[in-house]
Amino acid sequence: MDRMIEKDGVMESPLLIKGGTPLLSDARLVRELLGTLERTDFGHLGVRHEGKVRDSYVDGDVRTIVTTDRLSAFDRLLGTIPFKGQVLNEIANYWFDATSDIVSNHLLEVSDANVVRVRECAPVPLEFVVRAYITGVTKTSLWFNYEAGARNIGGNLMPDGLRKNQRLEAPILTPSTKFEVHDRNLSRDDAITEGLVTADLFDRCADVCFRLFARGTEVSARRGLILVDTKYELGLLGDEIVLMDEVHTPDSSRYWYADSYDELFRKNQDQRALDKEPLREWMVERGFRGDGAPPLMTDEVRIATATRYILLAETLTQRSFEAAELTAAERVANLLRD
Ligand SMILES: Nc1ncnc2c1ncn2[C@@H]1O[C@H](COP(=O)(O)OP(=O)(O)O)[C@@H](O)[C@H]1O
Ligand SMILES: [Mg+2]
Repeated sequence: MDRMIEKDGVMESPLLIKGGTPLLSDARLVRELLGTLERTDFGHLGVRHEGKVRDSYVDGDVRTIVTTDRLSAFDRLLGTIPFKGQVLNEIANYWFDATSDIVSNHLLEVSDANVVRVRECAPVPLEFVVRAYITGVTKTSLWFNYEAGARNIGGNLMPDGLRKNQRLEAPILTPSTKFEVHDRNLSRDDAITEGLVTADLFDRCADVCFRLFARGTEVSARRGLILVDTKYELGLLGDEIVLMDEVHTPDSSRYWYADSYDELFRKNQDQRALDKEPLREWMVERGFRGDGAPPLMTDEVRIATATRYILLAETLTQRSFEAAELTAAERVANLLRD
């Protein structure tokens, strides 16, 4: 885990340090570690849907989404990370705004750091994954499958001889199923043959996703980051394609520091990541790839993961992270209870 919080070769304290001073007092951090937002139940807001990370309440054409502090990886819930919901929501909202000229999105109102109200959409039953690099340790990731011998990934023919973390010639789209228990990669033609989407809808969605990814790449580069890969969820409102769920968050994307990419790639070393990949690797090192009981996250790994998420939010949005007086669980209860 130590390398998770190593920066420029200097070890930082697990507590996020900025300009020599801790971002939070120990007492505030401990309160959040104990008071993360794990589960909500506000049935009066509408029909409740529990996702892995978000709890939604649907009332007609409006959906209230509470982004909790739950962390999922390998398609499993692994526990909670302090401030994760707030930070995830801030990053998604930043990107909704930064991409609104490309495609309209579901956002109606930001009600709290952890809560948004959005337009309820008819989801396109695919997850649109765009990748610019070959990486990843999960069963659906590009590197994991390539290393196991796969050369046709979601209809994309991969050349021999690629190395982990290598940049692809051009970004590729590897769609996967949305409404199956475990994500399954499939090609454009499979998606059409299986009746999930029409060819026209698929192509319109793909076009939107590549444009979103280009914007994400460009903005991230200005912040010294590489947007490695990401997943988009699209919905329909009538005939209009709407970007929904989350966009370019560290849950749905990988981000690496740009300045150290070349050297680390040359030396076959892990990239410095501002996402949850180091946590996935921590899990893999302990023998967990999604099956069986997951290892219990220590407070150290929870704080290190929180630090990454907070640093990413600050880097992208160029705004300082602020912890409210109340914990996420307290604020959300105050706002949403009957
Ligand atoms: N605007 C929207 N309209 C309809 N469904 C949405 C909208 N935004 C997000 N969703 C859905 O709400 C759920 C969010 O919860 P999440 O924890 O991300 O679920 P998952 O476990 O599927 O990743 C997802 O199923 C997502 O597709
Ligand atoms: Mg999701």
